[in-house]
Amino acid sequence: MGEERPTRKRDRIIKGFSKLLKEDKLKAVSEYIENPGEFIALLKSFWYSDAEKQRQFDEFSENTISNFHIPYGVSPNVMINGKRYVVPMVIEESSVVAAASAAAKFWGDRGGFHAEVVDTQKVGQVHFCYKGKKETLFSFLPEIKKTLRDATRSLTEKMEKRGGGIIDIQLVDFTDKLPDYYQLRVTFGTCDSMGANFINTCLETFAHALQDFFLRQNQLPENERHVEIVMSILSNYTPECRVKVWVECPLYDLDGIDEHLDGKAFAEKFKKAVDIAHIDVYRATTHNKGIYNGIDAVVIATGNDFRATEAAGHSYAARNGQYESLSSVEINDGMFKFMLEVPMALGTVGGLTSLHPLAKESLELLGNPSAPELMMIAATMGLANNYAAVKSLTTKGIQQGHMKMHLANILNQMNATDEEKTAALVHFKDVTVTYAGVEEFLKVKRLKVKS
Ligand code: MEV
Repeated sequence: MGEERPTRKRDRIIKGFSKLLKEDKLKAVSEYIENPGEFIALLKSFWYSDAEKQRQFDEFSENTISNFHIPYGVSPNVMINGKRYVVPMVIEESSVVAAASAAAKFWGDRGGFHAEVVDTQKVGQVHFCYKGKKETLFSFLPEIKKTLRDATRSLTEKMEKRGGGIIDIQLVDFTDKLPDYYQLRVTFGTCDSMGANFINTCLETFAHALQDFFLRQNQLPENERHVEIVMSILSNYTPECRVKVWVECPLYDLDGIDEHLDGKAFAEKFKKAVDIAHIDVYRATTHNKGIYNGIDAVVIATGNDFRATEAAGHSYAARNGQYESLSSVEINDGMFKFMLEVPMALGTVGGLTSLHPLAKESLELLGNPSAPELMMIAATMGLANNYAAVKSLTTKGIQQGHMKMHLANILNQMNATDEEKTAALVHFKDVTVTYAGVEEFLKVKRLKVKS
C-alpha cells in the first residue's frame, strides 16, 4: 500500500460555483493562486465603481469575477465611397491601429476605399431524419413550406415590415452521405440586426411545425409519419451576406513607397506576395489573419460577434477546396487594384450593439450606420491592415515598425521609469528595437545613474 497522495487544490471540484455571490466566487478562485490577497485586490481594481455599470457587464456573461480590458483606439480619416469616418478599433496588438491609419491616409490621397455590399442573406438550417419515402417528402414540399410560413407568421411580421423575413425555404437531400438525413435550408433577411435570435426562433418553430405536419398525415403508414429533429440552428457560413472593398491607383502613384523600387516594380512584388497567399496555406492563414486584425477590431468595437465573422471568412477562404487569400491584386493598363471580398454577418441594432455602452458610442462615432454600411467599414479596415502588412513585408520588413510600436510594452515589462521611457524613445528613434537592445540600454542607463 503506497502513501496516499494529498489532493492538489487544482483537483478539487468547486460545488455550486455559479450560485455563489461574486465576492465569494472571487475568493473561491483565489485559492488557486499563490497570493490570494493580491489576486483579489487586483481583480477588484478592475471592477467599475459605478455598481449599475458593473452589473451591466456582469450580466453579459456568466461566473464573472472581473472585467478584462482591451485598448479602444480609433483610425481617423478613413474615406469609404467618398465619405469620411473615424473608425473605432478594439485590439490588444500593437501596430494594428497605426498600420490601418497609415494605410487609410495613403489611400485617402488616392480616391479612398471603394466598397459595395453584394448581398445580405443569412442562412439557417433544420437538420432532420425521415425514414419514409423520399418522394413522399418532396411531394409534400409546397404544403410544408406553407405550414412553416404560417407557423412563423407572428414572428416574421415585424421583420417583414422592416423589409426582411423568410426569403426562401429549400429541402436538401443528404441521404447519400448519411442515411435518412435531410435539411431545411432557410434563407433570411434580418435588416440591420445580426438576426441570430430571430433566425433560431424561426427554425425551432419550423422544427415543431414539420413534426406536427407529418403526425397529421393519417393517410401515411405509421412509420412514415415521424420526423426526427436532430437540431435547428443558424449557419455562420454566410457566403450570400458578403461585402467587396477595393483600392486602385495608377502604378506611378506607387512610386516612392520603396526607395529601391518604382511604382510598377513595387506593385508587381506586392502582387506576388498576395499570389503566394493564394497557393500556399501556411502563408494564406497568416495573410488572412492580418485581414482579420482590422475586421475584428471594428467588429468588437461595435459589439458584434468576431467568432462568427472569422468562422464565415475562413470557410469562405476555403470555398474552392483549398484555403486561400481573401484578397487579390490585379495589375492592368497601368493600374493597380487591390481587392477584398468577405462574408460578414453584422448588426447595428439589437444584441450587444445596444447593450454595451461603448458599442453604442462606436456606432454613433460611425454616424449610426446601417448593417450593410458597417459591413463596408469593417471590410475596409481589413483591406487597410492587409495592405499595410503586405507593403511592410515586401519592403522594409515588419519588425522595424512593429518593434517600435512594441517598445512601450517592452519598457513596461522591464519596469522602466518615466524618465527611462523618455530616454528610450529618443535612443530608439533611429535604432532597431529588440528585447536585448532595450535590456542593454536600461542596464547601461541604470549603471550610469548608480555611478
Ligand atoms: C500580424 O498580426 C499580422 C501579419 O502577420 C499579417 C501578414 O503577415 O500579412 C503581419
